Amino acid sequence: MTTSDSLHVLGISGSLRRASYNTALLRAAAELMPPGMTLEIFDLAPLPLFNQDAEKPFPEAVVELRTRLAQADALLIATPEYNSSISGALKNAIDWASRPPKQPLAGKPVAIMGVSTGNFGTVRAQLHLRQVLTHVGALPLGKPEVLVARAEQAFDAEGRLVDAAARGFLQDLLAALARWTQRVSPA
Ligand SMILES: Cc1cc2nc3c(=O)[nH]c(=O)nc-3n(C[C@H](O)[C@H](O)[C@H](O)COP(=O)(O)O)c2cc1C
Repeated sequence: MTTSDSLHVLGISGSLRRASYNTALLRAAAELMPPGMTLEIFDLAPLPLFNQDAEKPFPEAVVELRTRLAQADALLIATPEYNSSISGALKNAIDWASRPPKQPLAGKPVAIMGVSTGNFGTVRAQLHLRQVLTHVGALPLGKPEVLVARAEQAFDAEGRLVDAAARGFLQDLLAALARWTQRVSPA
């Protein structure tokens, strides 16, 4: 549930790399947030690998993830593309979040974006991510799509998103996420 002037978004990068372009894309999103929308970036690095034997109780880092997900009005996921799919780190986080008793991704509005160094800007990873998110009952936003290809040209040496078109698409995505969240979880 949210109100029109306070929307808390949890940002997740599927890359654990220190100089990750996907994490940099989340930082660009934080800069471009419309008024009344805030972004908290959650680090997936402390999560252990999913193990069904380690669910009772959930490890501390998993409790933290599940709590942050539950508290967020919406999610913004920046996914890298690894071998035409999402990263193991991102799938691992979704697997932890999907487990009962409460499923914090169910009914959660989600915007997807991604950066790759290749020519296709994570299109294949994003399709897989949509499939997985739909399976766990999350509500991925359809459009606009933010697919940033050839990352070295889109970002400067300090990791700032300098591609004007990509910045515009990202702004459109954030505005669309605000509208989508109002629509699927009205105050
Ligand atoms: C294991 C691995 C597999 C990759 N597979 C793809 C791929 O299928 N398509 C693609 O465009 N880039 C691929 N890449 C290159 C990534 O786009 C590039 O490493 C990118 O910087 C990863 O995102 P990050 O900067 O957020 O870590 C792959 C990289 C790794 C490490």
